[in-house]
Amino acid sequence: MFELIDVKYQEVVDIPHLYITKGQTVLLGASGSGKTTVLKLLNKMISPTQGRILFCGNDLKQLPSVDHRRNVMMLSQNPIMFEGNIRDNLTIAFKFQERVIPGDEELYKILGKVQLEKGLDTPVNLLSGGEKQRLALGRIFLLDPSVYLLDEPSSSLDQDTEDKIIKMVSEHIKKANKSAVMITHSKSVAEKYGDEIIEMAQGKILYRRLRDECNK
Ligand SMILES: Nc1ncnc2c1ncn2[C@@H]1O[C@H](COP(=O)(O)OP(=O)(O)OP(=O)(O)O)[C@@H](O)[C@H]1O
Ligand SMILES: [Mg+2]
Repeated sequence: MFELIDVKYQEVVDIPHLYITKGQTVLLGASGSGKTTVLKLLNKMISPTQGRILFCGNDLKQLPSVDHRRNVMMLSQNPIMFEGNIRDNLTIAFKFQERVIPGDEELYKILGKVQLEKGLDTPVNLLSGGEKQRLALGRIFLLDPSVYLLDEPSSSLDQDTEDKIIKMVSEHIKKANKSAVMITHSKSVAEKYGDEIIEMAQGKILYRRLRDECNK
């Protein structure tokens, strides 16, 4: 799906060649190893200082950024919340994109999926860090891009909620025939859900393996 050819980003990332297949990819690595930078490159939030990135065979340089980011959406490590309530935060992108705004029933369905049991009128400044993270995930789910780039979507969650959320994400990706590249620090999440596991160290790819191989 993505192919990185001789990619460098400043002194931060150095990847001679990497292929990321369709399905669920998990990106592991120590803090500062370059994981977020790779997701930003895939999302075209930043561009390589050297080399090329292909998405389904097309050079990212040739693809309009806005279109690409609607197709390949990133959940940031520290998601930005907009002033207002949960409803405002779930629907804001629909307003920007002049798309039909989903009704409350649909919004509550999404909140259920991301395990957020709050009213749509709840001001976001009353939410905890983990709740904001789930709301941001709900926001992306509502938009439902082809590729989800998820930067530690479960970092502020307790074990039980993490399991539920990652399972939900994984089932959706499979059922809807989508793809996800997810950063996690949890090896158990990687082994359980990653069709493909990539580990980074100091801006380089340490290894890339398919899950079947690790279960042997
Ligand atoms: N635009 C930039 N210019 C220079 N250095 C940068 C830039 N962006 C990130 N870095 C540095 O590159 C390294 C990798 O950053 P990155 O955010 O990709 O790491 P990470 O693997 O996501 O870490 P964490 O697990 O802590 O989130 C860090 O040392 C960071 O300070
Ligand atoms: Mg990071």
